[in-house]
Amino acid sequence: MSDELTDLTGDGYAAADWQKHYDDNDMPWDLGEVAPPFVRLWEEGRITPGRMIVPGCGQGHEVKFFADKGMDVTAVDVAPGAVERLRTHLKNAGVDARVVHADFFSLNGKHDARYDVFLEQTFFCAIHPHRRADYADTAHRILKPGGVLAGLFYETGEQGGPPFNTTADDILHHFGDRFTIRHLEKCDHSVERRQGKEWLALLERK
Ligand SMILES: C[S@@+](CC[C@H](N)C(=O)[O-])C[C@H]1O[C@@H](n2cnc3c(N)ncnc32)[C@H](O)[C@@H]1O
Repeated sequence: MSDELTDLTGDGYAAADWQKHYDDNDMPWDLGEVAPPFVRLWEEGRITPGRMIVPGCGQGHEVKFFADKGMDVTAVDVAPGAVERLRTHLKNAGVDARVVHADFFSLNGKHDARYDVFLEQTFFCAIHPHRRADYADTAHRILKPGGVLAGLFYETGEQGGPPFNTTADDILHHFGDRFTIRHLEKCDHSVERRQGKEWLALLERK
């Protein structure tokens, strides 16, 4: 199965378009496991215990992994199908995490400066590029000063989307002013189908 999706709206996906994927059991982006680079960040102590948010969580393999490690995890998705699936997975695994059905861009003030870690996994590439400034604003708003955005950003090398192509320049452009770039390199231990296409980023909120 490829990672390519069809843009049903011409202007990125609406919530109903994402929901259709869950209704149809068609999630080509889903790795079926936590992405290996996040496991390594945890093992190396580069993600440390605290409060984590996972926006656009989907079925939330990362949510389960980090909640199981004892982190206080909040997962957010706009598609009810993702929320239901993740709640079921967590229940079956006996793992606790908060799963919120919401639009990431409209998270209320209760989330402001709340999180130590913001986990990006195939969400930045899922939104239309014209929303990227909003994404950076929201990430900055909900992270504590000194909090870290740990992300795998997807360089598809393709036109259109989702997934929309993300380059290192895109990351520097949107995060360079208000985040300190602690690490930004092509990931050398991505899953096979994304090898050479992911930027591993650690961005510290100023
Ligand atoms: C490509 S999927 C990635 C899911 C998951 N992160 C993964 O890697 O398996 C993108 C997810 O973002 C969700 N999403 C899209 N727009 C959103 C928004 N504005 N707020 C919250 N979730 C959103 C979709 O419903 C979908 O579950």
